[in-house]
This record gives sequence, structure tokens and C-alpha cells, in this order.
Amino acid sequence: MNDLHVVVLAAGKGTRMKSDLPKVLHKICGLTIIERVIRTAAALQPASITMVVGHGAGEVKRSLAKRTRLQFVTQEQQLGTGHALLQTRPLLEGKSGTVVLLSGDAPLLSVDSVKALLATHQEAAAAATVITATFPRPFGYGRIVRTSGKISKIVEERDTTAAQKAITEINSGIYAFDLAPLFAALDSIGTANKQGEYYLPDLIAIYRKQKRAIATWTVQRADEIRGINSRAELGEVTTMVRQQKNEELMAAGVTLIDPATTYVDADVVVGPDTVIYPCVFLEGNTRIGGACEIHSGARIVNSTIGDRVCVRNHTVVTDSTVEAGAVLGPFAHIRPGSKVGEDAHIGNFVELKKTDIGKGAKANHLAYLGDATIGPKTNVGAGTITCNYDGEKKHQTVIGAGVFVGSNSTLVAPLTLADGSYIAAGSAVTTDVPAGALAIGRARQENKDGWVAKRQAGKAK
Ligand code: UD1
Ligand code: CA
Repeated sequence: MNDLHVVVLAAGKGTRMKSDLPKVLHKICGLTIIERVIRTAAALQPASITMVVGHGAGEVKRSLAKRTRLQFVTQEQQLGTGHALLQTRPLLEGKSGTVVLLSGDAPLLSVDSVKALLATHQEAAAAATVITATFPRPFGYGRIVRTSGKISKIVEERDTTAAQKAITEINSGIYAFDLAPLFAALDSIGTANKQGEYYLPDLIAIYRKQKRAIATWTVQRADEIRGINSRAELGEVTTMVRQQKNEELMAAGVTLIDPATTYVDADVVVGPDTVIYPCVFLEGNTRIGGACEIHSGARIVNSTIGDRVCVRNHTVVTDSTVEAGAVLGPFAHIRPGSKVGEDAHIGNFVELKKTDIGKGAKANHLAYLGDATIGPKTNVGAGTITCNYDGEKKHQTVIGAGVFVGSNSTLVAPLTLADGSYIAAGSAVTTDVPAGALAIGRARQENKDGWVAKRQAGKAK
């Protein structure tokens, strides 16, 4: 919208979080609180989005570096929400249209609610429109004071009279303002309150005196306007967001054995007929195909999993790709840069790092495969280790198609095992093995006849 400008307040310290991290950088299901607010702002397609930063400004800006259209203003001292909005004057004064003010700590607000706010604001031709909500326990919020049904002022918790404390209609801290009278009115906000701060809600009483139109729009789902001020509130909001994500997954055909203990980040996509067991974590930019099974204790981060993959218990996959029909775990560790090919099997206590496993290849038990390429249909025996690190550099192990690597092989990289080669169990392999050859790299076994009896005889003496 051409004449719509969004301002997001995010300069506050968030003292009640008791955190070194700026409040708005705490995460809810994989996204920072502020990223969630910015997504709502961006969905309105406004002419501009301005964020007021202060506490931890550098960190907050860095976290949003990819949002190139976002403009920042700094509020050096956090003197209150009225003072915070005033900081946008150099960017917005003189423009016409509407400002939507969002609170950087209220991430549940829906785009539809902001649109409803704007509709009410326009219809009433108001100077200010406030989103309000009814909270049975309104403690901590500014109260909406009405005279003859019309909003006359907003009183902060600390400044309420006993009668005002009982008011259950509260200020969401989210507003629409007509730009024309805004900055002059902000100038006249004072600090005569218990906290000695410039309170933005005081604008309502100022406009009332100036006889300007003021409107309110009451949000139906009051939870939408919840602000996060403490870890307890962060936890409560996280539970709500997680529930909503899980409902979306189930609506899209995913079975969650226990939605209460399924932890799926906002941007994760899961295909239909996939079954997710309790205590599974799907994080970041992860895509899971259809008809997969993801068993308890699995954690999958920034990874792509194809269709019909079975991820057994307690498997960790990070920054990797797993193709259709593969089986992982239990207790497999797929580290960054790995690719597990179609129908491949990676079994218990197998660790991969930057390793490409070919179609139908198997490493079923107890192995470390790092910086390696393993061809299709190759079998890697139990206890196989790629020695990829010489203390200074990492080296590659290239294993061809249809290779048989016997159990407990030590593959000293750089090394190539060509197609169809065989490695005898227990070998330390230090030189390349040609196609079709058998490599035996171990001391030949010697049997000493009668040795046991001789030793016992020796002892008896
Ligand atoms: C505010 C409202 C209150 C409302 C509540 C809804 C005021 C005075 N009170 O209270 O009526 O019910 O929100 O959640 O506005 N901020 C700045 N600079 C500052 C102060 C705050 O950028 O100097 C930012 C904060 O980072 C935060 C937002 O403004 O994102 C709200 O500030 P906060 O201190 O959380 O206000 P509340 O006490 O919750
Ligand atoms: Ca707040």
C-alpha cells in the first residue's frame, strides 16, 4: 500500500528476560521474535518499514541483514514508547498516509488483524485507532478508559486507580495513526507518570482534548496481542505457536503420534503420510518427503529428506540430504555436507561427515566415514574408519561401486578403492586398490601348536 508505513518498536532492553541477548532475538520455533513481527509487517506490503532499535542495536540489525528494505533508527536512550516513535520523525514527518505501529515483542499478531485495524481506522477517519483486547486478568497492561462508551485515555498498570485496575479491556500496544497530526502531538507527550517515561498511549488523551476522532478495534483471539516480557511468557507463546504448526501439519496429511511432544520449526515442510513419533525435532530449513517414518529422539536440522525414508530413533541429521527410501539409524549421526543416496542404509553408531553414500550402499554398524565418496551397492563393514585427518589437513577417500570393505578396516586417506575391489577384514589400507583386486593389509596370523599346554606346564613348576 502506497500510503502505509509500518513502524516496529524494538529498542527496549527486556529486563524481565534476564538475558544477555536482546529480548526480540529470542527464538520461537526457530524464528526470532522480531523476524516473526517483520514477516507480518512485510505481508502488508507497506511503502516502508522502520524499526526503532536501541538496546543491542547491532545484534538486532545483524539478525535482519537479509531484509534490505528495512530501515533502522536508533533510540539511544530508552525513554519510553512515545519517545521511541518520535525517533522516526526524520524518515516519516511530512509524509501523508497511515502509520501502523507494531510492538517488536508481540509476535502472534496476524496479518488479518492488522488489516481489520486499518479498515476500522479508515472507516472512522480516525487520528488514532487502538487494537484492544479483553483479558480476564489484565495485570501489567495499559487499561482502556471509556467515557460514555468512547475511549478517552489509556492508563498504565502502575498509574491506575483501584477502579481502573478492574478494567479488563487492555491496550495491545498496536495502533494505526494518521501521519498528519502525529509528530506535533508526540511532542506534547510528557513524563508525569510513575515511571517518568514518555508514554505513547498518552496520545489518546491528547487527541481527545484536540477533539480528533479516535477508534478502537477489539481482537477476537486475545492471545494474538500477547507481548513477551519474560521467559515464562516466551514458553507460553512457544507452546501456542508449536500447536498451530502441528495443526497445520496434521491438516496437510502428516500423522503426529503425540502433537504435544512434536517440535517442528516454522519453515519446515513435511509431506503427506509421513508419521512422526513423539520427541522429534525438525529444525530450520528442513524438508521431509511423504510416507517417511521419523522415530523418537530424531533431530533433523536444515536438511532435505526424500520420500519413504525411515529415520530410526536418536538419529541426528544436520545440513545434509537423504534420498528416497534410505534408512538411517538408530543412533546414526549425519553431519554437515553429507548425502545419503536412494535406498542406502546407514545403521547404528555410524557417523558421516561431508560424505556421499551411493544408491543402495550400506554402512550398517559402527563406522566413521568422513570426506568420502562411496559408490552404489558398496558394503562398508562394521568398524570401518576413514582416517581423513593427518593432524594438519583433511584428505579424501574415494570408494567405487560394488566395493566390499571388510569389518574393522582402517582406510588411510588420500585413498581410492576402485570398483569391485575387496578389502580383507582388519586391514590398514594405505595405498590405492585397483578394480577387482583384494587388499589384505594386516600381519599374517601364526598358530603356535600346543602353546597353552606348555604355558600351564611352566606355571605348575
Ligand atoms: C506497552 C504499553 C501498554 C500495553 C502493552 C502491550 C506503553 C507505555 N505501554 O507496555 O499500554 O498494554 O505495551 O503489550 O506503551 N520500546 C522502545 N523504546 C522504549 C520503550 C519501549 O523501543 O523506550 C519498545 C520495546 O522494545 C517493546 C515495545 O516498545 O518492543 C513495548 O515496550 P514495553 O516496555 O514492553 O511496554 P509494556 O510495558 O509492555
Ligand atoms: Ca511489552
